[in-house]
Amino acid sequence: MVEFLNFEVLEDHGWALQDEDLFAKAADANLQSTDFGRFYVDPNDTLLEAAEKNGFAWPFACRGGACTNCAVAVVDGEMPSPASHILPPELTEKGIRLSCIAAPVSDDAKIVYNLKHLPEVSELLL
Ligand code: FES
Repeated sequence: MVEFLNFEVLEDHGWALQDEDLFAKAADANLQSTDFGRFYVDPNDTLLEAAEKNGFAWPFACRGGACTNCAVAVVDGEMPSPASHILPPELTEKGIRLSCIAAPVSDDAKIVYNLKHLPEVSELLL
């Protein structure tokens, strides 16, 4: 089960990715179903495909690991990064991943999507 939160909501509420209780605060904030919720990821689907199958329009462009439009932050859980993609190590070390080429491998994960609005990511946007 993936629990997700829209990065733009963090800016609106003055929250930070590093906040320990970020998802608890989100759960109490009466957010729209497109900004906060949960869904399952089918085996062999990327996280982006799973979001789309569940009716969510998450950002993307290339769908091939080359543009960072689909970037997400993994706040909890495991989501390995394939070898070939555009993200520099300083971002993957912070848990940033590309949803078009990866999916969580842990049973549960907490994911902040829309990371293209994070300054370090937007610098890389193609
Ligand atoms: Fe371009 Fe994912 S859509 S890297």
